Amino acid sequence: MTIVEQPLGAPLAESCIPVLETERLVLRAPRIEDIAAIAALANNRTIAEMTANLPHPYRLSDARAFVETQAQVSDAATYALFVKSEAGQTFAGMCGFGRRPPETVHEIGYWIGEPFWGRGIATEAMRAVIDYVFSETDIDLLSGAARVVNPASRRVLEKCAFQWSGVGLCRVRALSASVPVDRFQLERRTWASLRAWGSTAMPVRSRAH
Ligand SMILES: CC(C)(COP(=O)(O)OP(=O)(O)OC[C@H]1O[C@@H](n2cnc3c(N)ncnc32)[C@H](O)[C@@H]1OP(=O)(O)O)[C@@H](O)C(=O)NCCC(=O)NCCS
Repeated sequence: MTIVEQPLGAPLAESCIPVLETERLVLRAPRIEDIAAIAALANNRTIAEMTANLPHPYRLSDARAFVETQAQVSDAATYALFVKSEAGQTFAGMCGFGRRPPETVHEIGYWIGEPFWGRGIATEAMRAVIDYVFSETDIDLLSGAARVVNPASRRVLEKCAFQWSGVGLCRVRALSASVPVDRFQLERRTWASLRAWGSTAMPVRSRAH
C-alpha cells in the first residue's frame, strides 16, 4: 500500500483522508463528481440488504447527501475505491471505518458494485484500509460484521485476518428490520504478527538424516 500526499488546497474531507494506492486500486475521499457513479452502483437491492445504512432505491440525491456529509464526519474515514486501468480509473465501490458513539470500537464497512464482484477487490481494498489504520493511527482494535446469510462478506473478513467474536443483531435500513449478524474483530497485535510473518521466508525443507 502506498500513501499518496494530498495536493495543497484539497477539500476538507480529502485533506483529512490520505489517498491510498494498491496494485489495482486507488482509494480516496468521495467527491461530488462521483455521485452519478456511486448512485449507479449503489442502487442495487442485493447490496442494500447486506449493508446497514444504504437506502433502496438509492437515488442521485442520496449519493449527493452521502458525499456532502462525509466532509463533516470525524473519527471516521470513508473511501471511494477505483479500479485502475490504462483508460483511467473506474469507480467500483466504497469502504472505510468509523466509530459511532457511544461505541468505543471502530467498525469497518464496505460494498463493491456487482459488476466487480469475485475479483478480490473488497479484500485488496480492506487490507489497504487496515494497513493504514494500524500503521498511521492509534486505533488498536477494529470490528466488522456480516449477515449470517452473507458468506462472501464473511470470507472477506477472514481473508483480512478478522476473528469471529460472537453474534448479534444489526438494523438494515433497506429492510426496515434487524437481522442476525456474525461479529468479528482484528487486534493491532494480530495484524502486526501476520505482517511480520508475511515478510519472513518459508522454511528450507531437507530430508531427515
Ligand atoms: C461481499 C462483497 C463485499 C465481496 O466483494 P468481492 O470484491 O467480490 O470480494 P473478494 O473477491 O475480495 O472476496 C470474496 C470471497 O468470498 C467468496 N465467496 C463469494 N461468494 C461466496 C459464497 N456464496 N459462499 C462462500 N464464499 C463465497 C469468494 O470465493 C472469495 O473468497 P476466495 O478469495 O477465498 O475465493 C460484495 O459481494 C458486496 O459488496 N456485497 C454486497 C454488500 C456487502 O455484503 N457488504 C458487506 C457488508 S458486511
